[in-house]
Amino acid sequence: MASVTSLNDSVQQQLASALSATRPEAAGADPLLRRSDRADFQANGILALAKKAKANPRELAAEVVAHVVTGDVIKDVEVSGPGFLNITITDRAIIENLAARYADDTGRLGVPFAERPGTTVIDYAQPNVAKEMHVGHLRSAVIGDSVVQLLEFTGENVIRRHHIGDWGTQFGMLIQYLDEHPHELDHKSAEDGAVSGEEAMSNLDRLYKAARKLFDSDEEFKTRARRRVVDLQAGDPATLAMWQRFVDESKIYFFSVFEKLDMEIRDPDIVGESGYNDMLAETCRLLEESGVAVRSEGALCVFFDDIKGPDGKPVPLIVQKSDGGFGYAATDLSAIRDRVFHLKADTLLYVVDARQALHFRMVFETARRAGWLNDDVKAVQLAFGTVLGKDGKPFKTRAGETVRLVDLLDEAIERASAVVREKAQDLSEEEIAERGTQVGIGAVKYADLSTSANRDYKFDLDQMVSLNGDTSVYLQYAYARIRSILRKAPEGVCPAAHPELSLHEAERALGLHVDAFAETVAEAAREYAPHKLAAYLYQLASLYTSFYDKCPVLKAESPEQVANRLFLCDVTAATLHRGMALLGIRTPERL
Ligand code: ARG
Repeated sequence: MASVTSLNDSVQQQLASALSATRPEAAGADPLLRRSDRADFQANGILALAKKAKANPRELAAEVVAHVVTGDVIKDVEVSGPGFLNITITDRAIIENLAARYADDTGRLGVPFAERPGTTVIDYAQPNVAKEMHVGHLRSAVIGDSVVQLLEFTGENVIRRHHIGDWGTQFGMLIQYLDEHPHELDHKSAEDGAVSGEEAMSNLDRLYKAARKLFDSDEEFKTRARRRVVDLQAGDPATLAMWQRFVDESKIYFFSVFEKLDMEIRDPDIVGESGYNDMLAETCRLLEESGVAVRSEGALCVFFDDIKGPDGKPVPLIVQKSDGGFGYAATDLSAIRDRVFHLKADTLLYVVDARQALHFRMVFETARRAGWLNDDVKAVQLAFGTVLGKDGKPFKTRAGETVRLVDLLDEAIERASAVVREKAQDLSEEEIAERGTQVGIGAVKYADLSTSANRDYKFDLDQMVSLNGDTSVYLQYAYARIRSILRKAPEGVCPAAHPELSLHEAERALGLHVDAFAETVAEAAREYAPHKLAAYLYQLASLYTSFYDKCPVLKAESPEQVANRLFLCDVTAATLHRGMALLGIRTPERL
């Protein structure tokens, strides 16, 4: 029972009853309420209503105003412009609302759960075995993790799936090479305990390059490698055991990167492409028997009227190749069956690069034709754009190679540590290192999350660790500053709400924004749009700054006012902390 009705909802309800009291045809109309600069809220819905009722909008608005009950929540309502309603909230209602949020001991700040939560399977953070992680994998992981937090916060049952690339013909080459060079994956550091992710990856990388070189230059090796693919697919135990070594080695590396990203990835949620091997033949059979897929030049294909290549010929989705092999599509179609029928999902969400949009369009349409997706079970690709370098071109090293994710994270941490060190007043070296990591990783995550996912963005570390502007560093400093004020309060002076006080404009603006947290989170979760939460938090920090500039806290006029302002500080801090956590970003107490 800790959930709090937002001011927006209270006003909405009051307007709804005023509307139905006005005219029968107005009952049920949406007042279209939103926050406004003119007043606290503005309702624009009367315009459409007047049009429908062929009434004069300003007259109709005046009739509605006459039915609005002012007092506890609504202080004042007036008609403005062509027939808008400008609504002002009482100071008391603002403070009482925040006090109820503050009192919520579940840490949810009074935010209600979604009315009808469902089950979402989210496919994110899906790197490829025996390969380096690059910036594209960063986006999937960071966006996916935030969407998981947001959905879980609304009460959704979230099942995570890391669809790692752990199957395919390239394993023939790798396994064959390892078989012929059995010590290539041995660990130098293994005797003294743990293997570092770095070492695991450098072994894999070396082996991959050597195997590829041999494969491209030695016809006999190529033949042996191809035979290995057959053995692997046939489930030959020795071949499978070697394949498993690649997977295990890669996981050591993946986990080290996810840990650096300060992100919890759980082993049982890693269900790679190989996890659907047993379903592939059946998936093809079902598609062929139902006529969704047809044989064409030996391959099993699905055709689409509207998907054509540059030559005007239809481009099919190939579910099974003419040599009998299964590819990426067969795996994804099988994963859909698993997620719908076994995991009982009603939403399938894929956090994957926009460049795979055509693949998912075809896969989803195929699944729809097969009846696996329908009105009750939907699939969505949360497609993200490309990470660009400062020059606006896809992010590459000077040598033109893809940038290793770890290098990039290390550099962000280094830059952030320099910023923390420069500002630090009483932090030890150890604390600087810890904060530097939290600030650096936060900066990278925030830069990714603060623009809408489908857009490309420039990876610009200078901008990301800047103290001014829309960065996580700015938000983290705002939080730390609030915490420091709260620490500075003299003994016995505690945050406490005083609804009887009249509020300064800056206090009102801050309070109304804190109240809007609930709606923002609900919207960001519903639309899979963490950037809306990021924008909200940035505004929260800005409103706090202007409150702090205009309203003395510890030196306020009366003890009640000091307590009430400390309370405003505390509830703002709690909201910032919560919101940042939903983005996967830490808020250190001191910076
Ligand atoms: N491993 C793929 C890549 O690195 C992403 C997998 C996306 N998920 C899926 N179900 N296809 O591009």
